[in-house]
Amino acid sequence: MTPHPDAPLLEVDGLRTYFDTLAGTVRSVDGVSYTVHAGQTLGVVGESGCGKSVTALSILRLVPRPPGRFAGGAVRYRGTDLLTLSEAQMREIRGNRISMIFQEPMTSLNPVLTVGRQIAETVQLHQKVSRAQALQRAVEMLRVVQIPEPERRAGEYPHQLSGGMRQRVMIALALACNPELLIADEPTTALDVTIRRRSSTCSSACRRRWAWAWCSSRTTSAWWPKAAIAWS
Ligand SMILES: Nc1ncnc2c1ncn2[C@@H]1O[C@H](COP(=O)(O)OP(=O)(O)O)[C@@H](O)[C@H]1O
Ligand SMILES: [Mg+2]
Repeated sequence: MTPHPDAPLLEVDGLRTYFDTLAGTVRSVDGVSYTVHAGQTLGVVGESGCGKSVTALSILRLVPRPPGRFAGGAVRYRGTDLLTLSEAQMREIRGNRISMIFQEPMTSLNPVLTVGRQIAETVQLHQKVSRAQALQRAVEMLRVVQIPEPERRAGEYPHQLSGGMRQRVMIALALACNPELLIADEPTTALDVTIRRRSSTCSSACRRRWAWAWCSSRTTSAWWPKAAIAWS
């Protein structure tokens, strides 16, 4: 992939993602367009079921197919249409250049791996570091998302953590490889209120380094750090 330095970080252009079901075709995403430049925060607002998660999953080509399929449009990352890349090229993009915080932490974390190991494996997948360095990075990331006693927690399994902590592990996982673009799909829904406040502080600090695409519902919009809202 040849990056175009002047191109926007992300351009979603007339994206259409449909699901072919027994009851007919569901047009979950039907002509969505938006642009995110480096340093920008984009907030996407919409009622439940309007297609926020499917749009986010489409960008990283994580929509299960079948029943899902791309029915049109383009998703350009630094000028390259992600929909035309091979699966191997997409693996290089996911987690490393574009990262996603998923809406459901329990379905995204591996129940049989400690959380430290999961973060370390993601780091080792994309960066040439030793196992010990990767584990050290994992502990550092758990500290960034304000998990108390990160050294001890790194050795625990997802079921040993509270729902809010699991959500923070997801955030740590998404940020571990220093992605250029972070897509956060209702990232604070599972957090308790005091932690939401702290995580929005953390977001402001991170914003200087990453452009954020926030997919969130109205109920969490108060937590966005100076977010611009765009939906076209
Ligand atoms: N696997 C699927 N098969 C059929 N329809 C789906 C599937 N996944 C999502 N949808 C539909 O796509 C629409 C958008 O869903 P979603 O993106 O999850 O909404 P939200 O904006 O709440 O995140 C919904 O109507 C949902 O029912
Ligand atoms: Mg959703």
